[in-house]
Amino acid sequence: MSQAFFIAMSALTLEHISKIYAPRARGMLQALSGTPKNQGFQALNDVSLTVEYGEFFGLLGPNGAGKTTLISILAGLASATSGTASVCGHDVVSQFKQSRRSLGVVPQEIVYDPFFTVRETLRLQSGYFGLRNNDDWIDEILANLGLSDKAETNMRALSGGMKRRVLVAQALVHRPPVIILDEPTAGVDVDLRRTLWEFISRLNKEGHTILLTTHYLEEAEALCGRIAMLKHGHIVALDTTQALLARVGGTDLEDAFVRIMHDDDFTGVTA
Ligand SMILES: Nc1ncnc2c1ncn2[C@@H]1O[C@H](COP(=O)(O)OP(=O)(O)OP(=O)(O)O)[C@@H](O)[C@H]1O
Ligand SMILES: [Mg+2]
Repeated sequence: MSQAFFIAMSALTLEHISKIYAPRARGMLQALSGTPKNQGFQALNDVSLTVEYGEFFGLLGPNGAGKTTLISILAGLASATSGTASVCGHDVVSQFKQSRRSLGVVPQEIVYDPFFTVRETLRLQSGYFGLRNNDDWIDEILANLGLSDKAETNMRALSGGMKRRVLVAQALVHRPPVIILDEPTAGVDVDLRRTLWEFISRLNKEGHTILLTTHYLEEAEALCGRIAMLKHGHIVALDTTQALLARVGGTDLEDAFVRIMHDDDFTGVTA
């Protein structure tokens, strides 16, 4: 690979991504009564976005804006209806293995296997990426997320916030260069928020690229250098946090967010 090509690659690239969820099948009665076919739901509409290596990037938007859909496409969990996406230069469809290996995803929904302990869960996750003898790193992650004393506890015996900590740990076991966190602080206590952000900020300083979605806009304001705002599947704002705040005015990012979301004429895609 030439040096020029390597430098030109970005951590995340989305080009003209659209996503239409398939229509729900009509029941027999609906079909017979002539109920028209549902056209499906357009969750993303021509989204183009580039996140550079080392960025701490915020993806914001109200419920249903398309954030998790976009993340699912990057993680290979959903397929785009049109457009292309890549992680560290690897196409998420044709180079799925390499792109998935470059990515750690903390999902919005808590899913876990109730039969495993925390350590077993993390060893299993390491195994998916072909990593054996990963316990030193697993111990470091557990310590940084305040989970060391829960390592041998069964997953089903953890509280909701602790299960979420394990999701964060799972995303980090293979030391991915790009980390995506989909509302990682929903339902977690103040202590974890602080420890989590210290840890994630440290990883960012060490060179990891971070993409964060959150409804806690003070977190996004404090952490994210650049922000994209999604509304009904469109990017309506994309800029550095400071430039967005300066352009929109208002007291803080939450205020700016509300103004942008309520202004149908706002076009703030500059960076
Ligand atoms: N599997 C699916 N089938 C049909 N529609 C879906 C599916 N998943 C999501 N949607 C719809 O796509 C839209 C975007 O959903 P998405 O989960 O991406 O939003 P979000 O921005 O992550 O919202 P939130 O802040 O609530 O997490 C919503 O209207 C949702 O109902
Ligand atoms: Mg979501």
